[in-house]
Amino acid sequence: MAAQRGPVPRPGVLDIAPYVPGRSALQGDAPVIKLSSNETPFGPSPRAVEAYLAAAGSLPRYPDGASTPLRAAIANLYGLDPSHIVCGAGSDELLNLLATAYLGPGDEAIYTEHGFLVYRIAIMARGATAVVAPERNLTANVDEIVARVTPKTRMVFIANPNNPTGTYLPFDEVKRLHAALPPHVLLVLDAAYAEYVRKNDYEAGIELVATTPNTVMTRTFSKIYGLASLRLGWAYCPTAVADALNRIRGPFNVSGPAIAAGVAALEDQAHVHHAANHNNEWLPPVTDALRRIGLDVTPSAANFVLIHFPEGDGRSAAAADTFLHERRIILRRVGEYGFPNALRMSIGTKDENEAVLDALRAFMKAAA
Ligand SMILES: Cc1ncc(COP(=O)(O)O)c(C=O)c1O
Repeated sequence: MAAQRGPVPRPGVLDIAPYVPGRSALQGDAPVIKLSSNETPFGPSPRAVEAYLAAAGSLPRYPDGASTPLRAAIANLYGLDPSHIVCGAGSDELLNLLATAYLGPGDEAIYTEHGFLVYRIAIMARGATAVVAPERNLTANVDEIVARVTPKTRMVFIANPNNPTGTYLPFDEVKRLHAALPPHVLLVLDAAYAEYVRKNDYEAGIELVATTPNTVMTRTFSKIYGLASLRLGWAYCPTAVADALNRIRGPFNVSGPAIAAGVAALEDQAHVHHAANHNNEWLPPVTDALRRIGLDVTPSAANFVLIHFPEGDGRSAAAADTFLHERRIILRRVGEYGFPNALRMSIGTKDENEAVLDALRAFMKAAA
């Protein structure tokens, strides 16, 4: 009798290393300082929470399948045509939908050495080949990406700024990359942290999407809008790309409460500005203080910093992680991103930032 065999996933699926989210809890009931997932310390706008709760009355009904009010609110804020906007359950869903629409076995897609790992998963899940372009100074490099384009290349994924490095590509470089790509290659600009960036030479992607047929920008409500648990994101796309995404997405892929909360969150730009200003106030001093403690920090344009620990003298990232856990502080291990000896710290409240700095100062002294 033939051996019983169960269903087998398509080639590539079992080669995927599952995504490991930032740790969110420690043993025991005492409160923790959680700076492991780049969430805002301010949470969502109270208006978004109110709208979310008010939407409870409509739970038995299917939501607006086209997220119409949300697309209108996004379009209004940024001056865009709503027909070019597609909403999704987090930008993760949109990144995966883009991969589903444009990738299959035999295709290649490029992402960068320390790029956000969802790209790799999205590429491999479609049976396509993930091609890794080396970075320079922990930053995506246009020449390295362009050098890896072949006739099989279908997509390039860039997080700008990137997670977990926090580094960014100036708009001139993004344009240079786009100009060097063949027209059939889709450039995906993942601007999850765009609202935080205070750089004159940065542009999240709107201009390139508006003027080229092969650029998409993805955005999220998970970071500065404080709605990570709701799962809400959007993509700004050329007509043909929006059409492709609308054909393959679930007919009700964004929930009614998410649509309602998203609209209300967009209306409260004062809340967003407050969070961005706070980040701008704390990112430089946190970076400087960590350096004074003796740690190497990658310059960041986002709401987190990548902290590199000394090699080989007992002051490793793993030892620091344990030390911080004992003080009820959770940062993000980033070994799977190619940084076995670094931790990523999200910018928190004043008290949270100071607690981490105090703890790391003590760690470096204790270990010295
Ligand atoms: C660069 C980048 N893109 C996308 C996401 C996913 O965001 P969402 O919660 O919208 O799926 C994250 C979240 O960590 C991210 O860092």
